[in-house]
Amino acid sequence: MSDPLRGFDPKATYDAASSDYEDASRDFWQYMSTRTVELAAPRSGETVVDVACGAGPGLLAASRAVGPTGRVIGIDFATQMLEIAEQRVRAAGAHNVEVRTGDMTALDIEPGSVDVLLCVLGVFFVDDMPGLLRSFWSLLRQGGRMAITVLGERFFDPMIDVFVDAVHAERPAFDIVQPWRRIRDAATFRALAEEAGLQGFTLREDTDTLTLDDADDWWRIVMGSGLRRTAEALGEDTAAKVRARCGEAMEERGVREVELSSQYLLATKP
Ligand SMILES: C[S@@+](CC[C@H](N)C(=O)[O-])C[C@H]1O[C@@H](n2cnc3c(N)ncnc32)[C@H](O)[C@@H]1O
Repeated sequence: MSDPLRGFDPKATYDAASSDYEDASRDFWQYMSTRTVELAAPRSGETVVDVACGAGPGLLAASRAVGPTGRVIGIDFATQMLEIAEQRVRAAGAHNVEVRTGDMTALDIEPGSVDVLLCVLGVFFVDDMPGLLRSFWSLLRQGGRMAITVLGERFFDPMIDVFVDAVHAERPAFDIVQPWRRIRDAATFRALAEEAGLQGFTLREDTDTLTLDDADDWWRIVMGSGLRRTAEALGEDTAAKVRARCGEAMEERGVREVELSSQYLLATKP
């Protein structure tokens, strides 16, 4: 059987990326989480579980939605990401939010106890994605909602191709693992939901853009995202060359923005 993650270690990658991720997230990761919370529409008094919550971009929006009588539980296994989430929650005085270290493939949560299950940019990091969605589904009570968010087909377009070309110009055989590409388009996402046996789900795809001020902006994104794994594996010297190539290509092609496409799966348990 092929290994879709091929050595990609999300815990190590996101622990290392945590401060850069947070830096980058002010620009572009945040909106996917707030949009996911809006789509799942938690109500006053409900229990929300945000798995693979990372630095917690969705926790405060969920906290406000459920109010003082509700609760929000954020779970992730990258403790350095969670530290940022905890600081964020503490700074906001959000007493209804609890942040827990845990593996989303082995959640210690009572089945049927959750009103809203959120997972933003996390599902593609586990081998058995349909099994993961089934396990999330089992945690929901009747009428509970599940919102799963993944990247779209043209995420980081055109810079992702520039980056891949730059890496291969330096190291032709280098295997750039991009777990998020496992759910590359709406058809793959739909097939996953069907395989997981979800009923009555809806899919939505959005396209946004992010302005890049300069080449440093792009590299900040590389180091604050899962692409960091590639940059680090290349070693400092080669990574510097890749960075320079990306900058040159941006100049030559006049690239001033990247496309951000995102996909949202929403399902309500009958
Ligand atoms: C791309 S980040 C997304 C974080 C956050 N949801 C956001 O949108 O900013 C992926 C997160 O998934 C977490 N993750 C990956 N596999 C996990 C697992 N099996 N259990 C818990 N967290 C996991 C990583 O630690 C990382 O924080």
